[in-house]
Amino acid sequence: MNQQDKNCLQIEKNIFLLNTENTSYMFRISEYGHLEHIHYGRKIDIKDCEAMALKRPIVYGDSLMYGNDDTYCLDVVPLEYSGTGRGDFRVSPIEIKCGNGSYTTDFRYKEYKIIDGDTRIKGLPNSYGANKTLEIILEDQEASLEISLYYAVYYDTDVITRRIELTNHDKRKAQIHKLMSLSLDIHEGDLKLMSFMGGWANEVKPQEDHLDVGEHVIATRVGFSSSRANPGFVLKKKTTLENYGEAWGFNLVYSGNHHSSISKDEHGNTRIMTGINPEDFCLELGRNESFATPEAIMTFSDKGLNGMSQHFHSFINEHIVRSAWKKKERPILINDWEAYMFDFNKTKLIALAKEAVSLGFELFVLDDGWFGKRNSDKAGLGDYSVNTKKLPGGIKALSEEIHKLGLKFGLWFEPEAINPDSDLYRAHPDWAMSESNREVIYGRNELLLDLTKKEVRDYIIDNVSRILDEGNVDYVKWDMNRQMAYKGGDYGHRYIVSLYEILDEIFTKRPHILFESCSSGGNRFDLGMLCYSPQIWSSDNTDAIERLRIQKSLSYLYPQSCMGAHVSAVPNAQTLRNVPLHTRFNVAAYGAFGYELDLTALSSLEKKEVKKQLAFYKQYRYLFQFGRFYRFDLDDENRESFEVCDEDKAIVSLYRKYCPAAPEADVLKAAGLAEGRYHIASRVYTLNIKQFGHLINFVTPIKVNADGLVVREAAKRLGMEVPSEEYEASANCLEQGIILNNTFLGTGYNPKIKLPCDYGSDMYIITKLSDPLMEEKQ
Ligand code: DGJ
Repeated sequence: MNQQDKNCLQIEKNIFLLNTENTSYMFRISEYGHLEHIHYGRKIDIKDCEAMALKRPIVYGDSLMYGNDDTYCLDVVPLEYSGTGRGDFRVSPIEIKCGNGSYTTDFRYKEYKIIDGDTRIKGLPNSYGANKTLEIILEDQEASLEISLYYAVYYDTDVITRRIELTNHDKRKAQIHKLMSLSLDIHEGDLKLMSFMGGWANEVKPQEDHLDVGEHVIATRVGFSSSRANPGFVLKKKTTLENYGEAWGFNLVYSGNHHSSISKDEHGNTRIMTGINPEDFCLELGRNESFATPEAIMTFSDKGLNGMSQHFHSFINEHIVRSAWKKKERPILINDWEAYMFDFNKTKLIALAKEAVSLGFELFVLDDGWFGKRNSDKAGLGDYSVNTKKLPGGIKALSEEIHKLGLKFGLWFEPEAINPDSDLYRAHPDWAMSESNREVIYGRNELLLDLTKKEVRDYIIDNVSRILDEGNVDYVKWDMNRQMAYKGGDYGHRYIVSLYEILDEIFTKRPHILFESCSSGGNRFDLGMLCYSPQIWSSDNTDAIERLRIQKSLSYLYPQSCMGAHVSAVPNAQTLRNVPLHTRFNVAAYGAFGYELDLTALSSLEKKEVKKQLAFYKQYRYLFQFGRFYRFDLDDENRESFEVCDEDKAIVSLYRKYCPAAPEADVLKAAGLAEGRYHIASRVYTLNIKQFGHLINFVTPIKVNADGLVVREAAKRLGMEVPSEEYEASANCLEQGIILNNTFLGTGYNPKIKLPCDYGSDMYIITKLSDPLMEEKQ
């Protein structure tokens, strides 16, 4: 047993202490057999239990006394998992109609087990590689129910996961209406809740709420984890900042309807719960049958929000993502969707691929439109016959040609959906999900297939597998573009379990395939999907300024290696905004990077720039995708900054949304570097001369028309190279921030002056200088 395995779990008398490298989690068995939560936060000693416990010398005037004991009232005991109807009037994690017909439950300690490593959940994906798992079994003899609480400890990444399994021992059926994966009562003063709500093309809008008495709910009902409410959320102290203070992060390994409840009571206790959404949920358990919830994950850091996010990032990279792509650099892709949408043929695709090769791309992705009558989003979903008018020779021939060019080949699918105008629908209308006596509701002209039917699962598995093998496909984009018109009971859950079964069947056998999941952009950005697809398309919104917010918000919960991020054309297809090429690169580079535009339509100047961007990205790819990620408190909505670093190098980008005249000096901050001196140089890029408009006449020998043919033609080939800024500073100094050169004010120009523009940005490469004293010694 290694040291981490030894340290991660300590049990003394009635006290359980779970330790990760920097955090402790403690609870004990109370005098009545309930699990009393003691602490989740900084490291403590098992001897601290009594001191850390919430004191309850006497009940409140209106409390119900448990066991007629006036020092014990379930309403105020911080619990690891409460029941219902026994005096705890806080929001309950469980609602179950027991075999005896009652809704009352009261779970008390029976025994514990220690499991080496992790446990698997039947039908659901979960994390792997835990040091140890503690199973605590609680029972309610009156209700003939038993629950197992599982705590998996991930020492190295400071994460503890929790989940529940409930077994009905009554000979009569029990009905589960609510069974949260995690319930946790903490006694912490002034807390703020950060949640990530949003919508289509507008994912993960961060929201902050001060926790007052009452309940906050983060939930979805669309059948999927959804862009409306990401399942991940954060609790932080009022004073916590990006690099300072305490923060607790939570998430759920699940892709269906989820529900998190954060409720504070009048005594200052906060109950945190997360799990399957109980709304309209109902699942029956026969005698000795069990139900296992999805896994919830939690982390704590006293090093600010960045510390908390970094725990999540390493946990996801180490213990969620699997396949051959775990911690492996992702190829730079070109996707044809925003370039051609449905309007393509083989000639166009090969021209795009050839251009991609000459610029340094590594993966070619053919998006929607390659099968059946799929020339618009009105037809074809469900069919797998290749449209040979567009692609003579089919996928196999195309893939061969792409491979011959030296690129990997990727393909789009939307296997969960069906268009009524498809051969599949004509043959099997009953395979589509619908309610027989009601009018059908379409979303993007499609219906979902009923994945709970075995024949439907087999159809998808057989067809997708066949195309992947015939076409020698290296990458899959698995899309899903409609929401589930709600079907109650346990249907939504069974749909998700069926989806996981399909993904398992297809991708576990083909671990070499790089799998990117997608759902109208980020409608299913969750840890369940990340157990299958190492990356997820973050949003249909590819505008770089919008992506600053989307990628930043995702970074609170997910690592940059998971976020599909592409440079697209301008004006942007969703916002009509014109963001300069270097900024589009500087944003997309902090993700699973690619381009989604017609490379053949770029000017020769733009092509040169793209080629340089790719070469630069390849040089620092590991750092961009797997380096430690930092955000900064800039107190200026107009600016943003991202950093990736390891011990002795960092890449920091500074973004300006709009450009004020005579701006304050820019400050560059870098965190997380080892002590020492560093060289700082900005990445050289070329600005389009059209940017300068009529001002160009100040430098041209003859007067030219800024909109005329001469300038237009020149702009295709000539640009203004923005020279590198260079500085030297210590790690300490970089942490405080170094002052950068002046920005152009309109009063004159020299090469040290930084050129402003709306949506401008600069990327700085920070590398450690060798220490002359150390070198002398060697
Ligand atoms: C929605 C996705 O988010 C897009 O990237 C694209 O693949 C389209 N579907 C294709 O229909």
